[in-house]
Amino acid sequence: MHSRFSLQVLTKMAIKKSICIVGSGNWGSAIAKIVGRNVLSSPDLFEAKVNMYMYEENFEGRKLTEVVNEKHENVKYLPGIKLPENIVANPDLIASCKSADILIFVMPHQFVRGTCKTMQEHIKDSALAVSLIKGFDKGPDGKILMISKLIEDILNIDCAVMMGANLAPEVAEEQFCETTIGCKNKEQGELLRSVFETDYFRCAVCTDIATIEMCGALKNVVGIGAGIVDGMGLGHNTKAAVLRLGLMEMVKFGELFIEGSQEVTFFESCGVADLVATCHGGRNRLLGENVVKSDKTIKQLEKEILRGQSFQGPLVAQEINQVLKEKNMLEQFPLFTAIYKICQREMDPREFINCLRNHPEHI
Ligand SMILES: NC(=O)c1ccc[n+]([C@@H]2O[C@H](COP(=O)([O-])OP(=O)(O)OC[C@H]3O[C@@H](n4cnc5c(N)ncnc54)[C@H](O)[C@@H]3O)[C@@H](O)[C@H]2O)c1
Repeated sequence: MHSRFSLQVLTKMAIKKSICIVGSGNWGSAIAKIVGRNVLSSPDLFEAKVNMYMYEENFEGRKLTEVVNEKHENVKYLPGIKLPENIVANPDLIASCKSADILIFVMPHQFVRGTCKTMQEHIKDSALAVSLIKGFDKGPDGKILMISKLIEDILNIDCAVMMGANLAPEVAEEQFCETTIGCKNKEQGELLRSVFETDYFRCAVCTDIATIEMCGALKNVVGIGAGIVDGMGLGHNTKAAVLRLGLMEMVKFGELFIEGSQEVTFFESCGVADLVATCHGGRNRLLGENVVKSDKTIKQLEKEILRGQSFQGPLVAQEINQVLKEKNMLEQFPLFTAIYKICQREMDPREFINCLRNHPEHI
């Protein structure tokens, strides 16, 4: 009897999944609060300790990881929010991820390739990745490469995605919101739901991974446009027009570049809802506003406004501009094109609305 019981316990222990959060900025820390609590409430399913890989930085003369582990708070990227004590910040990437069954990627997209290369050969073959990252990379052929695909290619494991109207500070304060999980099958969906869902963070699961991810990247470009409208002192009607035209360009981009992209996915939290949140409260909106009010470069504004964080919109605008230029399709995407030029300081932001007057959506 005793030995059978032990076996049961051992079997359970063997299937317990260990989680590593790869990244620890604003969103990484907010999601760590959810994941840390959820693993503790499902002790049969998950290991209690969650490693959070943290790119080491100096914070007021001390190592940021030390401060985070002592205060259980990410004092630099999410101050004022307590993290569960089972979240352990670790500056050693390989040590953090080597025994993980679930790898949650959440860092600015420009760091993913280097991070994955370091992890290569050091992770479990059976691990499942999930990307919370909004942005694109470029393949060797110069074509757009989804971040989930980049992770899959380098690590040779499946990569799901999770995106939605999820501004990190609001999620960290436990304000109600929704998100969209995209993954290959029901089993992965249910597992990821148990990692992320709470009564204030509701998850919808679907399989249109690439569209979810594309929405997450492109909405940041539209968010800059919404900020430009704010910076020029224009009102709700103009912003609504930018939002709608931006959405139409997102749908068109999906039709042209994503095989099997489904229009219904744009009605999930990752689509319209994230676009609305980004155009009203995101940091790319803030960038757009400042682009109108000053003549500083994006890099200067990033340094002054974000202090260590990054704007994703300008990079995405540049990446899609290259692709559209190569395909001779710039006129079909006047909003994306104008925002790219404005971010490069090649166009006066006050010209933005003029670029939209003859949008193909009006013809
Ligand atoms: N913040 C949000 O509200 C939010 C919400 C949903 C999704 N996202 C997405 O999540 C991703 C991460 O955003 P965030 O807001 O957590 O990041 P952030 O801008 O708050 O943080 C920057 C992070 O990058 C790290 N970093 C700096 N240099 C690095 C390097 N060389 N290598 C590796 N890491 C380095 C920093 O340590 C820090 O953890 C982005 O793709 C973003 O679009 C953000």
